[in-house]
Amino acid sequence: MNGAREKWTSKVGFVLAAAGSAVGLGNIWRFSYVTGTNGGAAFVVIYLIAIILIGYPMMVTEVAIGRKSERNPVGAFKALAPNTPWYIVGGLGVFSGFVILAFYSVVAGWSVAYIFKAIAGFAPGTDFADVFVGHITGTAVPIIWHAVFMVLTFAIIAAGVVKGIQRWVKILMPVLVVLLIVMVFRAITLPGAGEGVAFYLAPRFEEVTAGTFLAAIGQAFFTLSLGMGAMITYGSYLSNKENIADNGGWVVGLDTAIALIAGFAIFPAVFALGYDPAAGPGLVFITLPAVFAEMPAGSLFGFIFFVLLSIAALTSAISLLEVVVAWLVDEKGWARPKAAVAMGIAIFVIGLPTTLGFGVWGDVRIIGMEILDFYDFLASELALPIGGALTAIFAGHVWKARTVIDETNNPPGAIKIGNWYGVLIKYLIPIAVFVVLIATLIDFFG
Ligand code: PFF
Repeated sequence: MNGAREKWTSKVGFVLAAAGSAVGLGNIWRFSYVTGTNGGAAFVVIYLIAIILIGYPMMVTEVAIGRKSERNPVGAFKALAPNTPWYIVGGLGVFSGFVILAFYSVVAGWSVAYIFKAIAGFAPGTDFADVFVGHITGTAVPIIWHAVFMVLTFAIIAAGVVKGIQRWVKILMPVLVVLLIVMVFRAITLPGAGEGVAFYLAPRFEEVTAGTFLAAIGQAFFTLSLGMGAMITYGSYLSNKENIADNGGWVVGLDTAIALIAGFAIFPAVFALGYDPAAGPGLVFITLPAVFAEMPAGSLFGFIFFVLLSIAALTSAISLLEVVVAWLVDEKGWARPKAAVAMGIAIFVIGLPTTLGFGVWGDVRIIGMEILDFYDFLASELALPIGGALTAIFAGHVWKARTVIDETNNPPGAIKIGNWYGVLIKYLIPIAVFVVLIATLIDFFG
């Protein structure tokens, strides 16, 4: 397959596709609710440190592994370390792809449904918490939107329309950012917004626990699409003419900026409008409609916003499914359309319990969590950090830090990966992830 593998066509193709993968529900929905349930600003500080010390180095590592091997995650480890069990790390990534997309598609379905709620109108004075709970506790309606979203995802993957996505993302992402900024202005000028800004910006470190660190590390992996081989897969389509350090910097920078801006649209509104920042997964679906209801032409803005959020989710979902499909196509010889449709349906089914967990299975708790929260915890706080730490050990000690440094700096770009990279990838990242993980588990079960 070497030499023949399809490559991103335009110079910015990789950055757009990778940023499309990174920027999604994780930046707006997950970032805000995890920040809200982990105490606010102290979490944000730890998250930013995790992005710099773990996220960026892992980003360039995964892209380098992908570009060098030109394979899906399982094949990549096989190619770089033949006849070793390292490919199991790639397999863990494929597993994460299943679990994440299963619940991701359900939440994306909420976003699609909210497009229609916006068309119907967001009226001032509505209790949007009630509206949200009413929506997710239903049976058929959320399942239908989950199905619609999965069909869109597998249809695009089946067609292999990377170029279509590239083109869309380039136009739509800037629109999303502009719209978020408009909403920031509305949110921070609401009476009583100051308390929300303080919650978001004034850290209370006394509330930090091991769990806060794990949540921050998990969010860093999730939001950057790391730890499960999505960036290995996208890196495998990157040409040798591109510099990895710079491209990775763009992806990490864009993703982080969008999450931080989203926080300014959400937390001031939460406090100004009297909602609970620790409300959990419903946070953006409750507060943002409330902000729209307070804006002139709010329903129109709301409509545009949920269209964009759904598209951002779609470009991420595509990368999740692409990992699973690339594995079946490369390793098992499946035809792309067959792999896309079969896995799309399987993931739809695996996702059903997460939506039923808000309705007819509302009493079910797994280690104290609702089903969707459990899927998210399993993937984002266990599988992604563990997969990421193992990938770091592999890159630093097996494939060798020096090899990664050379690969990421070739051809030279504006950012130069130096020897500091070796310290982070060999020691800091694996040790930090495992220490935090073990400390959290002891806290949790101890
Ligand atoms: N990064 C995506 C988001 O923030 O919404 C979610 C995601 C996509 C996670 C792809 C992992 C992945 F491989």
